[in-house]
Amino acid sequence: MCGIIGYAGSRPCAHGVLLSGLKALEYRGYDSSGIASFQCGQIEIIKAKGKISELEKKIKDKPESFCGIAHTRWATHGEPNEINAHPHRVEGVTLVHNGIIENAAALKKAYEQRGIVFKSETDSEVACACLAILYRSEKNKLKVLREAAKILKGSYAFAIMFEDEEGVIYGMRKDSPLILGIGEEGNFLASDLSAFIRFTRNYATIDEDQIVRITNQEIECYDSDLNRVDVQVQKSEMDISTIEKGGYDSFLLKEIHEEGRVVMDTIHHYMKNSLQELSKTMIDLKKYHCIYFVACGSAYHAGVLAKNLIEKYARIRCECEVASEFRYNSPILDEKTLVICISQSGETADTLAAIRMVNKMGVDSCAIVNVKGSSLEKEAKYVLPTLAGVEISVATTKAYCAQVAVCCLLALNSCMDRLSSLQLHTIEKQLQKIDMYIDKLISDTNLDGFVASIMNKKNVFFIGRGIDYALSMEGALKLKEITYIQAVAYPAGELKHGTISLIEEDTPVMVLISDEKLVDKSISNMKEVKARGARILLVIREDLYHESIEADEVIFLPKVSEFLQGIVSIVPYQLLAHHLAAKMGCDIDQPKNLAKSVTVE
Ligand code: F6R
Repeated sequence: MCGIIGYAGSRPCAHGVLLSGLKALEYRGYDSSGIASFQCGQIEIIKAKGKISELEKKIKDKPESFCGIAHTRWATHGEPNEINAHPHRVEGVTLVHNGIIENAAALKKAYEQRGIVFKSETDSEVACACLAILYRSEKNKLKVLREAAKILKGSYAFAIMFEDEEGVIYGMRKDSPLILGIGEEGNFLASDLSAFIRFTRNYATIDEDQIVRITNQEIECYDSDLNRVDVQVQKSEMDISTIEKGGYDSFLLKEIHEEGRVVMDTIHHYMKNSLQELSKTMIDLKKYHCIYFVACGSAYHAGVLAKNLIEKYARIRCECEVASEFRYNSPILDEKTLVICISQSGETADTLAAIRMVNKMGVDSCAIVNVKGSSLEKEAKYVLPTLAGVEISVATTKAYCAQVAVCCLLALNSCMDRLSSLQLHTIEKQLQKIDMYIDKLISDTNLDGFVASIMNKKNVFFIGRGIDYALSMEGALKLKEITYIQAVAYPAGELKHGTISLIEEDTPVMVLISDEKLVDKSISNMKEVKARGARILLVIREDLYHESIEADEVIFLPKVSEFLQGIVSIVPYQLLAHHLAAKMGCDIDQPKNLAKSVTVE
């Protein structure tokens, strides 16, 4: 979603700093961008549709500035064009905004009657008008911001400049991320750390409803009663190489290659050698009667896999629901229920709203979350971190693998007493070299036949049973996201109840088989579609394959315990999406219409 950066510096380098920040925020997904900076006491705004390079071209001949705010926009109100791009200015107030102002339509009407002529279709310009109108009669800017916070409904992170206060940026947030960067040659406000990590590692989080004011030398923070409060400065350990491509053509490919390491890092966070260590680092699910997994997109697919393993092995009832449905479906929750929200960013609006609802009901909540300091991490009762590091590509790969790894450990911890010592020993051994299984799969898998079979096709089907169905959903999503080819996942046995009518000569059907108990059933389902002309692209655990299986193309998976299978089985599907997208010339890291962190409901 939209990215924000503001810089108040001691040297005239704001344009360079802001452009560098915008490039670091590109991964959030955007369709236009803009910068506002002080130029001899006045605020100048420059905006461009499309890539940041377009903005760069427009700004390169402008004189440098000490202070400015900048924005990458992911359209919500109004089409992606230059007028709707941020920053917006009304009278002496200029701002950039991430979030949605839900009462914008009513406010707009009221403000038009007070003489405001709106240029854009955005809710953000309405927020700007709100500040400008308040500023007409109240000259204390902190009071203006506090009053605006009472009027504006919805979610926001703002960086704001007033034309009569050169070199100063104000910020405030509600349900959208905004953090402070404290540098030696100036201070920052941004949607996330990556925007300013090249300039400073010192940062502080801003709480909901706090107001901040930054200059090149000072940072002031106020609570909602406008009392001055201290900020807790922290040092980020972020590895800058994670926000650089490091020789790969795309972040997505780089991040797939990091999967072995991040899965290992994540596992080592919970256990070094023995599965027994999990009893101290994981949550004991056995004290609950029901576990709800709640998440969106790929994180939801990790939840579906977790449900399958926990019900199968620990015999604890599980539900898995997409967050936007969960809230409105009247879930039945009580003191014996644990709700586990899974999220890479920890800022996904629907997932956050779900955890807030759960917390309000007094039900136990847990977050499986990648971003430290994120809203989800702060609001969950229990936190199980994933250690995937920064994920730049909009389509998730390594963070998903890390989520699956945590789900597998959670499942293992809840059923250890039901597994034999031989089973536990085998799993421990495999866990210790899980990175090698992943790395080998990445280096050995040849997808040329799969790519050629899907290229130029309109429809692809993914089928599987049990956890293979959960992984098929993720495989189909990956393909759709970055190649724009319509892909749909079905439980293998369900296809014949309607969807099989879509199978025609050469329709690619991806079949995933990793469970020995379900192999014969899945092969029967595969034959049903083969008989109707489908082209069978089989991904199968190597020990389950035999010559009589009639597939058009085959890829082999290593045999690992079912608990760990999900972590490795997804790799070919991720690579397939990448290779196809590369061949089709798609924008792999920033697919159209998508945003990395979906901070609106
Ligand atoms: C798919 C993808 C999305 C996210 C979803 C949830 O590749 O990235 O489906 O998984 O938007 O995002 P988080 O995990 O940040 O809550």
